[in-house]
Amino acid sequence: MTARIIDGRIIAADIRKEVARDVAALKAKGIMPGLAAVVVGDDPASQTYVANKERACREVGIYTEIHRIDSSVSQDGLLDLIESLNRANRVHGILVQLPLPPHIEEHAIIECVRPDKDADGFHPLNIGHLAIGDSQFVPATPFGVMEMLRREGVHLGGKHAVIVGRSNIVGKPIATAWMQGDPQFFPRVTVCHRTDPNLAEVTKQADILVVAVGIPEVITAEMVKPGAVVIDVGINHIEDKSLKRGYKIVGDVDFDAVSEVASAITPVPGGVGPMTVAMLLRNTVSAAKAQIEQA
Ligand code: GUN
Repeated sequence: MTARIIDGRIIAADIRKEVARDVAALKAKGIMPGLAAVVVGDDPASQTYVANKERACREVGIYTEIHRIDSSVSQDGLLDLIESLNRANRVHGILVQLPLPPHIEEHAIIECVRPDKDADGFHPLNIGHLAIGDSQFVPATPFGVMEMLRREGVHLGGKHAVIVGRSNIVGKPIATAWMQGDPQFFPRVTVCHRTDPNLAEVTKQADILVVAVGIPEVITAEMVKPGAVVIDVGINHIEDKSLKRGYKIVGDVDFDAVSEVASAITPVPGGVGPMTVAMLLRNTVSAAKAQIEQA
């Protein structure tokens, strides 16, 4: 079997067009949706992700401001910045790019973001809403994965989804969201740690396999059930001196080998990554609409 490739760039482009229409409608009412992004330190991957988010915002007409902060910033300094963004009327959505330097407590920063401006959906209040089936903001990557499957017509009801990776920003929220839904439309969920001693045994049972562990090509063809739908969330930079930039980007799945087994698969790059950005835009516009209704 050669898997159908689920093209995140095409699906994300459709979503960005829809968001652009929403933004135009808000602007016609005199409202300019705005996103503030905070990135601390000079990690090249974080800088690239934030630059991509900024470009995408500009393209759909969302006002953006990027706060590039030196890694020596104190926790209080960062909290002060977030407090000021919480108060700023021009800013409807706030995202703090993770990871943060080790001297800063990630929890304290995430909890400081005003929940109704939490475009990333990482605040415990928003995670709580998600967990009781009353979501306000779904974190952008899980939202992107679910939207991608929906738009591709992948039926989840009665299926078994296995999620490898238990992170707060991908694995846990996808599992949480799927556990809330009507079982007619949502899958049974198993969540594994990447070091699970029986990992292959479990992944082989997956009709839908979602992998988010950050280990290059750790999922091999032998670990995948024939006909499975495979969603690769990993973005790993691997040294490759034959390329001008000196590295290539690969996912957590051995794409070529798994493509021979799966029925559908997302590529890296060009799969989940563009969806994350598109769903951040969607969350920002939702935040703007909700704040206007409250005002
Ligand atoms: N780091 C990796 N993924 C994400 C994301 O979706 N949002 C933020 N803020 N940081 C990240």
